[in-house]
Amino acid sequence: MFITLEGPDGSGKTSQVQALAEAIKKDGFDLVLTREPGGTYIGDQVRNVVFDLRNKSMYPSTEFLLFQASRAQLVSEIIRPALDAGKVVLCDRYIDSSLAYQGYGHRRPLQPLQQVISFATGGLRPDLTIFFDLNVEQGLERRNNDGGWNRLDDYSLDFHQRVYEGYQALMAAEPQRWHRVDAARSPAEVAEEVKHVVLNFLKKHKRKIAKS
Ligand code: TYD
Repeated sequence: MFITLEGPDGSGKTSQVQALAEAIKKDGFDLVLTREPGGTYIGDQVRNVVFDLRNKSMYPSTEFLLFQASRAQLVSEIIRPALDAGKVVLCDRYIDSSLAYQGYGHRRPLQPLQQVISFATGGLRPDLTIFFDLNVEQGLERRNNDGGWNRLDDYSLDFHQRVYEGYQALMAAEPQRWHRVDAARSPAEVAEEVKHVVLNFLKKHKRKIAKS
């Protein structure tokens, strides 16, 4: 089973992911936790290039392709082998981030992007995607306070607004894959809902892997 987490910047998913991973393991599932961009030695180098605040001259198409390069490595090296071995994979951001940010955010036509994404991933799509729903201003304010500001956070408010709207369109196109969580609530409430949804999904779809 392949589960991904999505949301606008500062929506809190990254601070929730560790506890969620622990809960999944505690329930007896063999889990691989990873994130994008990065998650591999090669991907982490790409991540540094994409986020470097000095790379202001990067074109949207360059940015898009760098994300796909990082993803191609992650899918081949980590995600596919784990899924083939019957593990659960939890990934902090995946293909929907490229469609929301590089597609909707930079106003690029989606179809060619989807083709490249499909090439990079070999067509691998998530089984379940959790959307951490938080309005753009609140998200950027949180991000500003957590010290993790990167080159993409520097994009305009309009860009981030388009990203948010892009996510709404992606969810509307495939409602069965998505679960939306109100991320404006307390971290404990958000964590509880996410855990409940993910564990129920796993129990429904996957036989438990016996603890050794
Ligand atoms: P990161 O610092 O990992 O934090 P978070 O996921 O908690 O926001 O930031 C990832 C950034 O990269 C975020 O601004 C979204 C962006 N991104 C894309 O624009 N396209 C992509 O394909 C991916 C994976 C991420």
